[in-house]
Amino acid sequence: MTETATLADEADEADIDPADLAIATTGLTKRFGHQTAVNGIDLAVPRGSVFGFLGPNGSGKTTTIRVLLGLAAATGGSARLLGHDVPTELAQALPRVGALIEGPAFYPFLSGADNLRRLDSADRYADPATRDQRVARALERVGLTHAAKKKARAYSLGMKQRLGIAAALLTPRDLLVLDEPTNGLDPQGTREVRSLIRAVAAEGTTVFVSSHLLAEVAQICTHAAVMHVGSLVAQGSLDDLRGTGARVVRITTPDGDLCRVELARLGLEATGPVGEVTEPTTDEVAVEAPLADDGPAAEDIVAALVRAGVRVRSFDVDRPSLEDRFVALTGEGFDVAR
Ligand SMILES: Nc1ncnc2c1ncn2[C@@H]1O[C@H](COP(=O)(O)OP(=O)(O)OP(=O)(O)O)[C@@H](O)[C@H]1O
Ligand SMILES: [Mg+2]
Repeated sequence: MTETATLADEADEADIDPADLAIATTGLTKRFGHQTAVNGIDLAVPRGSVFGFLGPNGSGKTTTIRVLLGLAAATGGSARLLGHDVPTELAQALPRVGALIEGPAFYPFLSGADNLRRLDSADRYADPATRDQRVARALERVGLTHAAKKKARAYSLGMKQRLGIAAALLTPRDLLVLDEPTNGLDPQGTREVRSLIRAVAAEGTTVFVSSHLLAEVAQICTHAAVMHVGSLVAQGSLDDLRGTGARVVRITTPDGDLCRVELARLGLEATGPVGEVTEPTTDEVAVEAPLADDGPAAEDIVAALVRAGVRVRSFDVDRPSLEDRFVALTGEGFDVAR
């Protein structure tokens, strides 16, 4: 909890102008009867970011997105989308927002292209004269050109998911909201969605993408928020989120005991799995110690170890992975792709 407070304080210090936020919520809450699905969250999604909205199953991601898009009413708090109040000014924001929400619905008896034409014609801002071009371009972007004439009922889950993304991309958007866009996709499809998100972001569109699979989106995000049982437990730039964990020194050596003594002399207390044999055929051990920012430099540690006769096989200074951080924040295992 203290970590949450720290991150929130940092966000305050950054003092982001509300006008620079694509999505901003204050104390946003959604209850279903006695159950609180979203519990007073303060989201701050900077314009131009690729924002990962992460959290395990049931943590409130879809519910938050439904409220943001006006598909469900909040129980409390407030939200702004592209600077417009939700829900009172939604009509002003929505033409500039593309969205893919859990299980997009399509007419099964219409082809993929015809489904998109139908959706496009329902958009009163879309010029009918250029409809076919928009539909063809959207299908091309998601790699469905070859299946344009195929009936949607014959689409695989992954193809339906792509058609949903195509629908969200029919017109240029300032904000793209994707709820678990990689659901049902194979690794290749997942890579394609990632590169599509990168391309959309490169055009200046803010992308808000939810996932329960950290590894699937972490590599393309500039920012992230982590949900846990309806609450926001961390939020910020990826660097901030990574940086809040202390650096650790990892050493592999056959001289574990000596290494530990020498580290202690340098003021580093080995906390890692000292004595644990990493290679059953050798006597090597992995030694791990936290390193304060004002602690000894990495090269001085190596020099001291070698001087003391510690044979260093590998040496590494690293921040804990995002995954380590998120597991620590949510107190439970995060589904990890692969
Ligand atoms: N219409 C509803 N009525 C009652 N409870 C609901 C409703 N929609 C969601 N919930 C509950 O709210 C909680 C949050 O659900 P939500 O779908 O927002 O989670 P999620 O983070 O999107 O999960 P997932 O990763 O599985 O998609 C869950 O406990 C869910 O059962
Ligand atoms: Mg969901």
